[in-house]
Amino acid sequence: MCIFAVRVFLGILLLCAWCQCLECPFGCECFAITRTVKCVSKDLYTVPQSIPGYARTVIITGNNIQRIGPESFTELENVTNIILSNNRISEMASHSFSALINLRFLDLSGNHLALIHPEALSIPGSPLQELNLSCALFNFTALTDLTTALRWGGLGGLLRLDLSGNNLALLPPGMFSHLPNLQQLFLTNNSLVAVYSGTFSGMNQLEVLDLTHNAFRTFRADALQELGRLGNIRILLGYNPYTCSCEIRNFVSWLNESRAEVDVDSVRCASPKTLTDTRLRGLGVQAIGCVIPVQGDVTDLTLQTSYVFLGLVLGFVGMVFLFVVYLNRKGMKKWIIEMRDACRDVLEGYHYRYEIDSDPRRTSGRMSTDSGSNRNQIVSYLD
Ligand SMILES: *[C@@H]1O[C@H](CO)[C@@H](O)[C@H](O)[C@H]1NC(C)=O
Ligand SMILES: *[C@@H]1O[C@H](CO)[C@@H](O)[C@H](O)[C@H]1NC(C)=O
Ligand SMILES: *[C@@H]1O[C@H](CO)[C@@H](O)[C@H](O)[C@H]1NC(C)=O
Ligand SMILES: *[C@@H]1O[C@H](CO)[C@@H](O)[C@H](O)[C@H]1NC(C)=O
Ligand SMILES: *[C@@H]1O[C@H](CO)[C@@H](O)[C@H](O)[C@H]1NC(C)=O
Repeated sequence: MCIFAVRVFLGILLLCAWCQCLECPFGCECFAITRTVKCVSKDLYTVPQSIPGYARTVIITGNNIQRIGPESFTELENVTNIILSNNRISEMASHSFSALINLRFLDLSGNHLALIHPEALSIPGSPLQELNLSCALFNFTALTDLTTALRWGGLGGLLRLDLSGNNLALLPPGMFSHLPNLQQLFLTNNSLVAVYSGTFSGMNQLEVLDLTHNAFRTFRADALQELGRLGNIRILLGYNPYTCSCEIRNFVSWLNESRAEVDVDSVRCASPKTLTDTRLRGLGVQAIGCVIPVQGDVTDLTLQTSYVFLGLVLGFVGMVFLFVVYLNRKGMKKWIIEMRDACRDVLEGYHYRYEIDSDPRRTSGRMSTDSGSNRNQIVSYLD
């Protein structure tokens, strides 16, 4: 009797364990009602298999997963959100998420991606809307890999992309040109120093561009043109180490007049000391050292400089001309004498002709000499 009870008890226990196994992978918690599977900080080395088919949200964070491939997620047609943050993912193979045909949200933040296959992000039907790659790229090679993956991934449906905290120093030209529907681009907390024409090409639906906490000292004319091209959007430019010298003048004018919605209150000078923490918008040209006062009047220093430069150039050209003339003085003298003789010859020719014309007896012969003003001809005619 007792043995039978123990057997039944053990049987039930085993059955329960088996059910548990079937329903939820080892190291994970499954919530059927919210359709969520959580595998948090369980030292997992691979993505657990047999995630229940009802799952919509899969959270696998704080583990030791190093590679994601097409075998990682299979037959999970109901999954819309995958959070893989803070693992140690360094490699993303081709078609890693291809089976997730309803995947809208993918968070890969806090990883060490060094190898991203060009088709790593390809999913049939382009369902992906949000991609978080904050603090996820290991080095510059990963950035170029990602650029290719964004190009080849068919990410036409992507609306939001977070690339913050990746130590990015430059963005490959046209990096986002295959994301035509992107609305929000986060590039905060990188090391960007410049925007070039073409950096944001192809994005016509952009609404928010976050460039805060980078290394911009100024924006040059081509950068301002590129930002201006984005139109009437929200552009965040605060918390950059702006250098408020005369070179920043175009940027100040742009801030003064821009149609975009800029976080002007956070756009402040980092140097020089006299202007530290001063808002850039509204700064006068004099304050940033572009002008100097002259006779109570304010004259543009750069204009003055250009006049001085023009004067110097003209003076130099004149001196070169005089020098050349001086070197050729003998030849010039000879040439002048020849010219003088030639002129005299011609003038004498006219002189003879005048005499002929004024001779009434010779009027009939005038026609024959009219075509030639050559002195010799006239002389022979006279003879
Ligand atoms: C996805 O969800 C639907 C409806 O809840 C269900 O019928 C289907 O079996 C699920 N898919 C998988 C692979 O379990
Ligand atoms: C991306 O992930 C980081 C870290 O998990 C988070 O702070 C950030 O808000 C996320 N980005 C977006 C756009 O939600
Ligand atoms: C980036 O890291 C990968 C893997 O460690 C390495 O092969 C590659 O050479 C690195 N690239 C750069 C530019 O350092
Ligand atoms: C900025 O990025 C670095 C990694 O590049 C990260 O360690 C740091 O927490 C980030 N800072 C903020 C404020 O997000
Ligand atoms: C910006 O606007 C202020 C007035 O709002 C003006 O005094 C200043 O000269 C302008 N700066 C530039 C560089 O256009």
